[in-house]
Amino acid sequence: MKAVEIRKDIYWVGAIDWSMRSFHGYDTSRGSSYNAYLILDEKITLIDTVKEPFKEELLERVASVIDPAKIDYIISNHVEPDHSGALPFMMAHCPNAKVITSIPQGLKGLKARYGDLPYEGVKAGDTLSIGKRTLQFVPTPMLHWPDSMVTYCPEEKILFSNDAFGQHLASGSRFDDENDLSVLYYEAKKYYANILMLYGRQAQAALKALKDLPIEMIATGHGIIWRSHVQEIHDLYEKWSHGALEKRAVVVFDTMWHSTEQMARTITEAFQEKGVPAVFYDLKENALSDIMTDILTSEYLAVGS
Ligand SMILES: [Fe+2]
Ligand SMILES: [Fe+2]
Repeated sequence: MKAVEIRKDIYWVGAIDWSMRSFHGYDTSRGSSYNAYLILDEKITLIDTVKEPFKEELLERVASVIDPAKIDYIISNHVEPDHSGALPFMMAHCPNAKVITSIPQGLKGLKARYGDLPYEGVKAGDTLSIGKRTLQFVPTPMLHWPDSMVTYCPEEKILFSNDAFGQHLASGSRFDDENDLSVLYYEAKKYYANILMLYGRQAQAALKALKDLPIEMIATGHGIIWRSHVQEIHDLYEKWSHGALEKRAVVVFDTMWHSTEQMARTITEAFQEKGVPAVFYDLKENALSDIMTDILTSEYLAVGS
């Protein structure tokens, strides 16, 4: 398995999880990917790792470009094991690498999980020179855990955004403009609705912290990389984090002998007669994560049981 060059000397070296159908209860009907990125500069830098079962895939992709032992830094933007699971394995292959993580939460989380490694903590505004390029660290707490941060490279105008702007989507193509855009927007919305919806205020704070950075590419931690629709996905995050709603109704119900179902039908029809598009969800027949995706932007919600 080979690395994919996304910019001169910057490679995607992640793993594609084609078969995953549930991400702790989130119905991932299109699989996912765990994205990691390798930057070749005076200091060789790996940004994030992958879920533990995919560690060999990560190593193989890195080794297709460079001897992994030459890695100087591993940036851990987020402690959750879908991004850090392969860290101990990579550290065993990168004897000179330092692990860069947020303080205090990243440091605390990685130590608790993986014990003592050569950590270096960073906070808001800290930068790391890796040669021709600089890396800036921006904390994004609760996107998706307290430790979360993103890494920005001003020379390349690339934001390594980890969980933010991601989608659970397995694809053989790495970029937004190589994929079906309507699928990407749906999966990005589903991801926001199911993973980040509770943290709208924190999402707004993160968007504010990023607002003055010129961004040409968002190299996400899951799914595809945004390069042609950076503004669009940013605007969608603005909309979702502010709770902007559309004239639409979601009717969700559970039923044993179809009585509640009859009420749900009547309610659905009533919305439609009033000119409000309505969707009808039998809770037993639909994935919760799809229902939540619809609820995110619907003005009306009817629940019956
Ligand atoms: Fe996460
Ligand atoms: Fe993640």
